Amino acid sequence: MKFPVLPFLIASLVWAGCATNKYETLAPLPTPAMAEKSGQPLSTLEQGRIVYLAQCGRCHEHQFPDTVNTKDWHVVVPGMAWNAGISKSDEKAVLAYVLAAKVKK
Ligand code: HEC
Repeated sequence: MKFPVLPFLIASLVWAGCATNKYETLAPLPTPAMAEKSGQPLSTLEQGRIVYLAQCGRCHEHQFPDTVNTKDWHVVVPGMAWNAGISKSDEKAVLAYVLAAKVKK
């Protein structure tokens, strides 16, 4: 009997699609408008998002920009950057990114 590969292939594509959309919505890609509103260079926000996605979901689920208020982000990110062992410039970029992603709305 032939193993039915196609249903699994379709299911995994659908699943991957949902996972991508969740991050696109909750951790949006930096845009020039976001950079202008937040007063941060677009390249900093891009760096921040990459570090955020790579490092900030290692120990717990990603805490998305909108789930923490601005004041708390300022307090939390330095501690979490220390947890993650990232550089000062990556820490600043992550903070810039999460704040800019909130401002966007
Ligand atoms: C080495 C593990 C580790 C990494 C990496 C890490 N965290 Fe955490 N994070 C924790 C732990 C443990 C807690 C819960 C205890 C605490 O608040 O310190 C937590 C809690 C949090 C909270 C909730 C804080 C609160 O007071 O409610 C936020 C927001 C957060 N992390 C964001 C981040 C961000 C952003 C990054 C990436 C820079 C990150 N975390 C990377 C371990 C980590």
